[in-house]
Amino acid sequence: MKLLRPVLWALTTAFVANAHSLPSPQHTCVIPALKDGRDDAPAIREAFSKCGNNGKVVFQKDTTYSVQTALQLHNLKNVQVDLFGTLEYSTDVRYWILHGSYYYFQNISIAMEFSGEDITIDGHGSGTIDGQGQVWYDLALGVGGLYGRPIPFCLRNVKNAVAKNFQIVQSGKWNFVMLESQNILVDNITLSSTSDDFQANPGNLGNTDGFDTINSNNITIQNSWANVGDDCVSFKPGSTNIHVKNLTCYNSAGIAIGSLGQYEGVRDVVENITAEDVSLYGSRNGAYIKTYVGKRTYWPPQGGGGGNGYVRNVVFKNFHIENITASPVLIQQCTHWAGYNVPACADTPPTGFFSNISWSNFTGYMNEKVGTKAISWTCSPLATCEGFSFKDIDVKSSTGANGTYSCTNVVGYNSACQKTN
Ligand SMILES: *[C@@H]1O[C@H](CO)[C@@H](O)[C@H](O)[C@H]1NC(C)=O
Ligand SMILES: *[C@@H]1O[C@H](CO)[C@@H](O)[C@H](O)[C@H]1NC(C)=O
Ligand SMILES: *[C@@H]1O[C@H](CO)[C@@H](O)[C@H](O)[C@H]1NC(C)=O
Ligand SMILES: *[C@@H]1O[C@H](CO)[C@@H](O)[C@H](O)[C@H]1NC(C)=O
Ligand SMILES: *[C@@H]1O[C@H](CO)[C@@H](O)[C@H](O)[C@H]1NC(C)=O
Ligand SMILES: *[C@@H]1O[C@H](CO)[C@@H](O)[C@H](O)[C@H]1NC(C)=O
Ligand SMILES: *[C@@H]1O[C@H](CO)[C@@H](O)[C@H](O)[C@H]1NC(C)=O
Ligand SMILES: *[C@@H]1O[C@H](CO)[C@@H](O)[C@H](O)[C@H]1NC(C)=O
Ligand SMILES: *[C@@H]1O[C@H](CO)[C@@H](O)[C@H](O)[C@H]1NC(C)=O
Repeated sequence: MKLLRPVLWALTTAFVANAHSLPSPQHTCVIPALKDGRDDAPAIREAFSKCGNNGKVVFQKDTTYSVQTALQLHNLKNVQVDLFGTLEYSTDVRYWILHGSYYYFQNISIAMEFSGEDITIDGHGSGTIDGQGQVWYDLALGVGGLYGRPIPFCLRNVKNAVAKNFQIVQSGKWNFVMLESQNILVDNITLSSTSDDFQANPGNLGNTDGFDTINSNNITIQNSWANVGDDCVSFKPGSTNIHVKNLTCYNSAGIAIGSLGQYEGVRDVVENITAEDVSLYGSRNGAYIKTYVGKRTYWPPQGGGGGNGYVRNVVFKNFHIENITASPVLIQQCTHWAGYNVPACADTPPTGFFSNISWSNFTGYMNEKVGTKAISWTCSPLATCEGFSFKDIDVKSSTGANGTYSCTNVVGYNSACQKTN
């Protein structure tokens, strides 16, 4: 390997020199797979360092790459990634807990991150990222804030990217994360995380969000499908100008804004969000906003609160919902996951504000066992909850009765959500 290096390097240099004068042939790296149980990550790193600028990186079809060490694929520029094959993460939880790439928000840990500019990742309908998440679902059972669960796919500090036509299965944590990135198109992505143990422990898919945006701007997520155990899409703090269109979600927690206000004194902004043509099957919530308690109690990732900020210009429209267990149209204040001794919501008003948030054209029906509240807007009496509107919310009970509307402490609405002004 050592001896080969100078030769390869010389070849690469020749290619680059060539590429300067000629637009093609493209500088291409086809990644070999060891197929003997050893780590393929070094070969992946090498391919990206050689062909990650003005080049093409190919994961071969019908080939499984074992990923046993964290991938930080940085400084990419104008690269096409053809992900025909499968990336399979190792299940060495001890390794991943210690070595994922860290990001401060909820102390997340990333197994593979791409950064740079002008990146296209195309799975051509066969590309697969397999997080082998069962070990994480089992380990995290009852340990909500378990540190180090690896995020299998992250665009971090990316400008101008397309990610399309691949699937992520058995994600150890949130599936597809966009972090401090902008101008991203996500198209035709399939996400699927299911647990062997789901019947006995439905809680153990907690934290397997589908798509998450954090401190990111100008993103479209379209024509995609997910079966995940937590939010199907979550617009986390700093999400602006995001469009979700034509998305189907099974067994998820719904389409969420938040959690917001988790970090004391920090201003969270979510602005210009549209989610339309969304189908939710067996979801917990529909389209909802969650904010933390207004006074910090314990610390993130589970505890926290006392942040501020705002949510404005949000459209949730054309939702079809079947068999939902909580409310299709929902505001949840005073979110908290730190367990006991959390102060009553009424005593700790969240300090953020809302404006111009609308829900319209929701159809479908609710789960037979629980919930008939089509709308549930429950705000702290000390908070200023205003700027909400709804139209044509027609999600029925499982028996076909109209769903009920319930509003508490919402400016402009009485308790039955009738307009008061
Ligand atoms: C998690 O983040 C908090 C700050 O929110 C920090 O105090 C703590 O040290 C972090 N934990 C780890 C394991 O990095
Ligand atoms: C879109 O995704 C589906 C399901 O993964 C796949 O069958 C199809 O080939 C993809 N489309 C393209 C253009 O790759
Ligand atoms: C938003 O991102 C898309 C790529 O998805 C790009 O075509 C468009 O120019 C960007 N818009 C702005 C205002 O930068
Ligand atoms: C919606 O997305 C699905 C893939 O999940 C695709 O098959 C379908 O053609 C898309 N519909 C439209 C109207 O684009
Ligand atoms: C939100 O959209 C409005 C209207 O298009 C625009 O003026 C504003 O700058 C956008 N906000 C952000 C944070 O981009
Ligand atoms: C409300 O938000 C929508 C969606 O972002 C936007 O199109 C509209 O201009 C906003 N209305 C006002 C009054 O800001
Ligand atoms: C309402 O949403 C459904 C999808 O759930 C869509 O088919 C229908 O066209 C929408 N109706 C209007 C009036 O936009
Ligand atoms: C609704 O979901 C429950 C599980 O929460 C399931 O047992 C039931 O079969 C589902 N009903 C329909 C009509 O899909
Ligand atoms: C149920 O709601 C529909 C509108 O979605 C309304 O026309 C109808 O009168 C309601 N039925 C009852 C019994 O309230």
